[in-house]
Amino acid sequence: MKKLIEVLPNATALIERSLSLTVEKITNAIQNKEKCSLALSGGNTPKALYEALAKQSLPWEKIHIFWGDERYVSRDHSDSNQRMARQAWLNLVPIPAENIHPMPTESGDPSIDAQTHEAELREFFQVVPGEFPALDVVLLGMGDDGHTASLFPQTAALDVRDRLITVGKKDGQPRLTFTIPLINKAHCVIFIVSGENKRPALAQIMDPEANDKTYPSRFIKPQGELWWLLDQAAGAELKS
Ligand code: 6PG
Repeated sequence: MKKLIEVLPNATALIERSLSLTVEKITNAIQNKEKCSLALSGGNTPKALYEALAKQSLPWEKIHIFWGDERYVSRDHSDSNQRMARQAWLNLVPIPAENIHPMPTESGDPSIDAQTHEAELREFFQVVPGEFPALDVVLLGMGDDGHTASLFPQTAALDVRDRLITVGKKDGQPRLTFTIPLINKAHCVIFIVSGENKRPALAQIMDPEANDKTYPSRFIKPQGELWWLLDQAAGAELKS
């Protein structure tokens, strides 16, 4: 793993840097193998990045979109990560519908939907049980409690090592999430973190002595590159 930390002067610069790095990694993947697999993070921070990506001219037919996690709501619910990314970006570019691989959330049973999505990923990446596909780029956010994707502190999802997709729990509410081993198989993971409220958790995540299960972002150690893109408000106490 190669770990890189960049602290940008403000939120706007953070999005600009996130855009340039994401486009660079997408372009590299396409140059190497004619396609790119990109997993999106949810929440609020990445929306401005998605809006900026909508203005880019990229070979959309070669880009496949996944999500690192999804709230267990319908695709048109205001909390849906899929809805946010489609409205901010994917509805605005000519990306083929079959290149968008949302997490299913409508069977009524999150564990069934997790298994369904796992099968979809295995089929797409042509991997058998026990194997983990290596996505080209995984975008992640980090909560002020140190969670990432839907891997929340002290939850069972943190112990799942034999699946690609599992059910996360936030305050008892189910979510679908990439597992730690799936994220860690990625060629490139990019955390995009903004705001002073993230500073305490970041300090714990960067502290060699802190507890992994209390700050789940600590589990993220990809085989490829690990980027932490932070604005000054979040990363003031860290060194680039
Ligand atoms: C989600 C996200 C989640 C998010 C963090 C940070 O579904 O909410 O995937 O992991 O990245 O909670 O969210 P903000 O960037 O909005 O602070």
